[in-house]
Amino acid sequence: MKEVRFGFIGSGKISHFSAESLLKHEHARLVATQDLNKARADELADKFDITHRYTESSELFARPDIDAVYIAVPNKFHAALAIDAMRAGKHVLLEKPFAMSAAEAEEVIRVSKETGRVFTVGMNQRFNEDSQKIKAIAKTGALGEIYYAKAYWFRREGIPKLGTWFGNKALAGAGAINDIGVHLLDLCLHAMDNFEPVSVFGTTYTKFGNRGLGEGGWGISDATESTFDVDDLASAMIKMRNGATVCLEVSWAAHIADANRMDVELFGTEMGASLYPAKLYKRSDPHNADYQVIENVAAKPALEHCDRFHNFVNHLLHDEPLLVTAQEALVVQKILDAVAESTRTGKSVDL
Ligand SMILES: NC(=O)c1ccc[n+]([C@@H]2O[C@H](COP(=O)([O-])OP(=O)(O)OC[C@H]3O[C@@H](n4cnc5c(N)ncnc54)[C@H](O)[C@@H]3O)[C@@H](O)[C@H]2O)c1
Repeated sequence: MKEVRFGFIGSGKISHFSAESLLKHEHARLVATQDLNKARADELADKFDITHRYTESSELFARPDIDAVYIAVPNKFHAALAIDAMRAGKHVLLEKPFAMSAAEAEEVIRVSKETGRVFTVGMNQRFNEDSQKIKAIAKTGALGEIYYAKAYWFRREGIPKLGTWFGNKALAGAGAINDIGVHLLDLCLHAMDNFEPVSVFGTTYTKFGNRGLGEGGWGISDATESTFDVDDLASAMIKMRNGATVCLEVSWAAHIADANRMDVELFGTEMGASLYPAKLYKRSDPHNADYQVIENVAAKPALEHCDRFHNFVNHLLHDEPLLVTAQEALVVQKILDAVAESTRTGKSVDL
């Protein structure tokens, strides 16, 4: 293969950003767009000068000149479309969250193995330059033992367009935790290099969207739903096999000081780190009173391109290791499932 030829399944809001990102790679082509809503497939295709546009995913999958697909549709359709695509011979880059449940995710992984197609989940926050720098430092062991971590993303009024699939549990699976919580949870485990959770205690709340409050406006789907039955705030404590604890907090809407506050904070025995932006915290020697906060972190990003599409294309063309493995994405999905179960039962869930 000299270039990777893509089809896009779903031509909603994120697909416009993704097409831009994909086409920065000199060996990537966008051949066809698809969306159940024809006007959206056309809009995306017109913007990037693409001839072929479809409403049926099966028609796009049937094109022999397409090597890979990027899937960005409501979460309910993630697993089924990924499976159809791989059975049609396409490699898959799937948007987050992986699926509606770990059982669905496991089936996707099984089909990826059966068909020999490459599969990954597009956890783009792992690819930020600052995340990559801290990851590179953490990998050297310089932080010591990372025994505690906080991952949080609080939005004051950030619910995607009210009345769309984002607020409907049957289509989205969950709300803020599936939309933005999943990013920082995944990034936190990646930075810690620890994908071995053993138990989860979590709670979710629906306090704003159900009252028609807290909208931020993301998404270009039409508002057709009256339901809002997903979380707009979630929190979880995740205990890891090695004794470390991860505290995850996320809101789409809440009465809070900042419009948007997000970070991953790593507590290491030798150094602390935070990722938005990259910072390190340490004492140059144990008896020195001057505490150091290093703001200009000099590390080289582990992947210089800092781009999920570049990583996927480079993997297909040159075997660059995939940054996000299906197994890691499955672990994240298991934690999301456990938060939902813990919310239902009021008890901690063993994994
Ligand atoms: N990585 C990120 O940072 C990021 C950001 C936003 C959204 N996303 C993910 O991308 C996906 C899409 O989100 P969005 O913001 O573009 O939503 P959106 O509402 O703007 O667009 C969704 C599009 O999917 C189309 N659609 C619905 N069902 C379909 C189906 N079965 N087949 C084909 N098309 C279908 C709709 O017509 C719509 O055009 C979601 O899974 C979301 O979680 C990821």
